[in-house]
Amino acid sequence: MQKTLVILKPDCIEQNLAGKILDRFAEKELKVLGIKMIQLSDDLLEEHYEHHKDKPFFPGLKEFMQRTPVIVVALQGENAVDTVRELAGATNPTEAAEGTIRKHHGTDVQENVLHASDSAENAEIEMKRFFKPEELFEE
Ligand code: RTP
Ligand code: MG
Repeated sequence: MQKTLVILKPDCIEQNLAGKILDRFAEKELKVLGIKMIQLSDDLLEEHYEHHKDKPFFPGLKEFMQRTPVIVVALQGENAVDTVRELAGATNPTEAAEGTIRKHHGTDVQENVLHASDSAENAEIEMKRFFKPEELFEE
């Protein structure tokens, strides 16, 4: 069993796609351990996208991620990290495979519907970043 952390980004919220995307996770037998809608603070975003802080697109990314509240979701299942990354598709929706969430609903390399942890190690770190232990369902 593995965990992964998803953020449904502002373009997802604006298009009212949350239900549809959560269904895609459930179809893959990924269980929701935590879910909430939050407005991302400067501090949280700078921590989450630390590795992008010096990139030219960072100010635009920050502005985008704060355009509306987002939904953060903690998931658990077999191979959860890769399963969600596969469902999401490539970062740039124009390069994403047919049938992926980003191919279908993404706008451009920035407005690409969701964030998904890129490793099991980062998933654990990101879950702690966004959820307190008492906010998480434990079987
Ligand atoms: P994410 O972290 O959101 O799951 O996406 P990712 O792993 O597929 O892509 P990553 O390289 O980690 O980039 C994080 C997010 O930054 C925005 N981005 N904009 N304008 C650009 O060239 C650019 N490159 C990346 C996207 O929102 C991307 O998901
Ligand atoms: Mg990433």
